[in-house]
Amino acid sequence: MENIQLSIEKALGFISKEKLASYEPKVRTCMETLEKGTGLGNDFLGWLHLPSSITQEHLNDLKATANVLRENCEVVVVAGIGGSYLGARAVIEALSNSLAWLSEKKAGQPVILFAGNNISEDYLYELTEYLKDKKFGVINISKSGTTTETALAFRLLKEQCEKQRGKEMARKVIVAITDAKKGAARITADKEGYKSFIIPDNVGGRFSVLTPVGLLPIAVAGFDIEQLINGARDMETVCANENMMENPAALYAAIRNELYQTGKKIEILVNFQPKLHYFMEWWKQLYGESEGKDHKGIYPSSVDFSTDLHSMGQWIQEGERSIYETVVSIESPEHELRVPTDEENLDGLNFLAGKRVDEINKMAELGTQLAHVDGGVPNMRISVPKLDEYYLGQLIYFFEKACGISGYILDINPFNQPGVEAYKKNMFALLNKPGYEEASKAIQARLTK
Ligand code: PA5
Repeated sequence: MENIQLSIEKALGFISKEKLASYEPKVRTCMETLEKGTGLGNDFLGWLHLPSSITQEHLNDLKATANVLRENCEVVVVAGIGGSYLGARAVIEALSNSLAWLSEKKAGQPVILFAGNNISEDYLYELTEYLKDKKFGVINISKSGTTTETALAFRLLKEQCEKQRGKEMARKVIVAITDAKKGAARITADKEGYKSFIIPDNVGGRFSVLTPVGLLPIAVAGFDIEQLINGARDMETVCANENMMENPAALYAAIRNELYQTGKKIEILVNFQPKLHYFMEWWKQLYGESEGKDHKGIYPSSVDFSTDLHSMGQWIQEGERSIYETVVSIESPEHELRVPTDEENLDGLNFLAGKRVDEINKMAELGTQLAHVDGGVPNMRISVPKLDEYYLGQLIYFFEKACGISGYILDINPFNQPGVEAYKKNMFALLNKPGYEEASKAIQARLTK
């Protein structure tokens, strides 16, 4: 089996080989620190050897639960936010038919929808309206079990599911994925008798896609979680290599830190395959929440090309030179479609006749890479043989391992997210949540000044 490949040639014009090589000892130390668990955030390293430690029994349990949902639901709503939903959505959207949402709703192949990742009244209203005549189930995912966005959506969905399907069926088609002991989601699951899975204490939200958080929704959507884990497990081996130049995660971590030192403060993750849109969202959360600390960190952003070449292309080509690109490129598409010949050639496209659409896409990719490098944008390319469970598993582990190493090179704790609390404190104070009386007074005084 091939592996995903990282090409760095088009970044090397911007940083020297010698400078890159000088990262080797630092990278080795960071990898050792991760391995020995002696660094910052060392109580959140459960993801590091997760792929190689998952048991067949655990996967069977997940698959059996997924089958209960598949057999009894036309629609399954995944309630969760941040790390408690992005990984599942990334994999499901990458592997699904682009028009899956238009297909007939039926048990056996439920439509997967997402909720609990915003506080939009319109979204929740429209979702609950849509579900009115559907046999639906819910996967409620929250590690803390107390996240407002998710808890709010779950309150609405639980009530609707019980009313529509009866208490007994609701108990069958609601599954909780949460902490073993604490949090409202655990209390509810235990009281109602829901099937539940545990999010390990030592795996943070954004590193949890290979726990039940990602695996259960992915299995419910009908995808092969064993292959996903196989890919991640193989990448775990590749990324254990102590030689930086032979370890793609170590190399990626080193290059992005060196680019950052030279003023490239923004990384743009690029795809030429719109099915990867949510994979980019997952990546942004992984790197943004891990590295944006102590007033440091590369700003992770993403674009879907060629779509965004017609919106962000100008900025990337000629805007401030503070960016670099990492392209995730899928080598072989799933389907074959060729450009037809048209005798009249009114659109002037006969020069493309007989070519596969993907050949045109690849030339757009190459043309863009050359133009952007000429315009002063360093470029890395990750080649992915095909878009399937196995290679998504490889990509996931590659980015996770690189994130751990990169965060340690940057000298921050990549495994906490203290900054996320600030908005919550203000929101709770503004909503007069019990326990926030002092903060409430302070914020009211500030607003009435
Ligand atoms: O990565 C993280 O830790 C966060 O993005 C969390 O996943 C997110 O805030 C959701 O938290 P919870 O699972 O506790 O509801």
